This record gives sequence, structure tokens and C-alpha cells, in this order.
Amino acid sequence: MTNIVDQITGHRRMRRNRKADWTRRLVQENRLTVDDLIWPVFVVPGTNVVEPIAAMPGVNRMSIDRLVEAAKEAADLGIPALATFPNIEMSLRDETGSNCLAGDNLINEATRALKRHVPSIGVITDVALDPFTSHGHDGILREGEIVNDETVEQAAKAAVIQADAGSDIIAPSEMMDGRIGVIRQALDDAGYQNVGIMSYATKFASAFYGPYRDAIGTGGLLKGDKKTYYIDPANGTEAIRDAALDVEEGADMLMVKPGLPYLDICWRMKEAFGLPVFAYQVSGEYSQIKAAAMNGWIDGDRVMMETLLAFKRAGCDGILTYFAVEVARALSKRG
Ligand code: PBG
Repeated sequence: MTNIVDQITGHRRMRRNRKADWTRRLVQENRLTVDDLIWPVFVVPGTNVVEPIAAMPGVNRMSIDRLVEAAKEAADLGIPALATFPNIEMSLRDETGSNCLAGDNLINEATRALKRHVPSIGVITDVALDPFTSHGHDGILREGEIVNDETVEQAAKAAVIQADAGSDIIAPSEMMDGRIGVIRQALDDAGYQNVGIMSYATKFASAFYGPYRDAIGTGGLLKGDKKTYYIDPANGTEAIRDAALDVEEGADMLMVKPGLPYLDICWRMKEAFGLPVFAYQVSGEYSQIKAAAMNGWIDGDRVMMETLLAFKRAGCDGILTYFAVEVARALSKRG
């Protein structure tokens, strides 16, 4: 006796594999592990400072001593790497972001402390100028224009200085043309053949960065927008062309930023280049989930896990996420 559904499906039933926890585990295609996580952190001057960031519930700015403690916990949980972002004094910020070239600036001192006290965790540093400029742009501003080549030259110098401090991976996020090749050459000339480059290959001119700008104190500073250097959210093919240049110039890893609204780009990048691809689940993505969870509108823990798994399904090798420690703790409980 054949019933109507069997007639229609030709006896194929997708639900057979979903019928129990054990079948579902058996057929699960993607898994999130602690090895997939990179934890972005905010550093402030001083000692014993842990400052909550209002727009990012659960995320703090930390002085270097407290960052070292947090990094030890992260390393113990198995998190492979941190990405550090500085919130420096306003008095140190200027038109050209000159403090990025100081060997003892906040970001380089943080790297030194991390490498000294928590040598097992990877340190990823950005060379964009926005934490260092008085105008909040990622590059040098000359007569209303973010000048490309001069910014690249400075970014390459900053990269070598960051490598001097012990940075393991340079992650340039300022989207200037030619930066990957120039930074690679500068690192190699300085003998830093083993320092890698994770290119923020496709960084979109996104509104999801809002809370981050509060976190590093550039929110009130930024004049205009970043549309002359970040990619238009409408453009997928242009993003792949931009990433292709970074691959040719020697990028070791590629990043897509923001993350969840750009899963198509993650997938296309992985397919096109086969390099390790990382998504940056940015501040606005984090805060949306936190805010809705705090209102009781969604189950925050489950949504957190689901978004991170979605990155894996989209072909990502890992995710930069402010949830990193929370996720690592949850994963270690699961065993
Ligand atoms: C800029 C930079 C941004 C972020 C990190 N570095 C974007 C911006 O402010 O324009 C965003 C990170 C986040 O939102 O979590 N170089």
C-alpha cells in the first residue's frame, strides 16, 4: 500500500535523518570549535582599568595588566588568537595618526605584554589609522581627501614597528590600494618573513560599526563617511576583485567584514581563492543580539551559536567575535 506522500516523494523522506538526536549528530555537516575563534579586544591606558562599553553589553575596555589576565583565561579556554584595538588619549590623536609610529604606543606595549605573559596566544594587530587620527578616518587626510599612497607608506612602517613589538599577524583594515604588497615587502625587508598578513580584504562601508566607534572613541570625531575607501554594500563582484588583488600581493588570510550580512561574500571568497577566510562579526551584529536577548525577545545563547555556525557553513575557517570567551566557555561545558 503506497500512500500519497510516498507517491509524491518517490519514497524519499528527508525527515528520516532528523528523527533523533543521534541521527542529527551523525549527519551534522559543520561544527563550531574553540579553534575557530579570534577575540577582538579594546585596550586603554592606565592600570587596573576595566571599563564597560555602553553600546556593547558584556564587552570592556581593559588596561594592559587586565588584558593580560583576560588573555590568560582565553588561552586556557583554547582561543587561538586576539585582535587588539587601542583607545588612546585624545591628546595623542592628530591629522596623520603619528602615534601609530611610536614603538611604545598603547598597541605595541599591549603586544609586548601579551607576548611576555601569554606566549601561547596569537596576537593580531591592525594598521589602520582610525584609533590614532583626530578625524577618525583610517588614513591620512589632506585637503578633504584620504590620500592613498602616503597612508600605505605609513601603514607599512607601522606594520614593521608592530612586528618589532612581537605581533604575529598584521591585519590592515584601511582598504588603501596596494597596501598588502607594500606591507609584505616592508616586513620581509625587515626580516619578518614569518609575520603573516590577514587582509581585511572586503571591508564594506557599513552602519554595523557604530558601537565599535564608541569603544575606541572615534564616534564623535568622524567627519563624513568612509565611502571613498570601503566597499559599497551593494557590490559583490567588486569585493571579489579587490580580494583578488590582495591575494596576488601576498595576503596569507582573507577577512570579510561585517560578517552575517555578507555570507555570500565569504562563500565566494572561499570558492575563488581557497585561502583561509575569516568573518568579522562586528560590533553592531554583537549588540543587536545582546539587546534583543536582554529584552527577552530572542534566546541570546542560541542565536549566538547559530550565527557562528552559519559562518562555518558559509565556508569560513574562523570568526572574529566579541562572543569568543562566552562561546569558548559554552563549548568547554558541552565537552
Ligand atoms: C576601522 C575599523 C572598523 C572596525 C574595526 N576597525 C570600522 C570603522 O570604524 O569604520 C569595526 C569593528 C566593529 O564594528 O566591531 N579601521
